[in-house]
Amino acid sequence: MSIRDILKMGDPRLLRVAEPVHDFDSPRLHQLAADLWDTMHAAGGVGLAAPQIGVNLQVLVFGIRENSARYPQASRIEPTVLCNPQIVCLGNEMNDDWEGCLSIPGLRGLVTRCSHIRYQGMDLYGDPIEREARDFHARVVQHEHDHLQGRLYPTRMRDLRQFGFSEILQLQQEQQDAAAVQE
Ligand code: NI
Repeated sequence: MSIRDILKMGDPRLLRVAEPVHDFDSPRLHQLAADLWDTMHAAGGVGLAAPQIGVNLQVLVFGIRENSARYPQASRIEPTVLCNPQIVCLGNEMNDDWEGCLSIPGLRGLVTRCSHIRYQGMDLYGDPIEREARDFHARVVQHEHDHLQGRLYPTRMRDLRQFGFSEILQLQQEQQDAAAVQE
């Protein structure tokens, strides 16, 4: 197990369409998943895709404990390794929320995503996974799945004015909240 370097936006390896996994339960695949977990936890993220560590395979890890320091409002998402994922949106409801990405450190953007999805794929052993997800869980899976298509969240944004540095955006939010309390 090891912590790997995370590729940053601008690296063309983040723009490739990843290859499907064919060889399940292999030492190489187990090693990849272990490295993804180590790297994600070290960086404090809630999800990571294999292309972000330079491996062009359709493998994602995601999960969040309750009371996460970085995402205090988020409810628990079961830690999951997902290979060859497919997503369908259920219903027409979309929602906007702020996203960050370990490949775009320090920045956040407002992204529109499907509120309710079904996703399916396989675990490390080739056994099927099929789940429905809503809201934050649905957003995380859609964001990570995009990495397998060579897409980063700014390409999903509708309004690039809603894009900025996390520390500045947080300051704005705190000022707005303070103003709202005074009113
Ligand atoms: Ni990302």
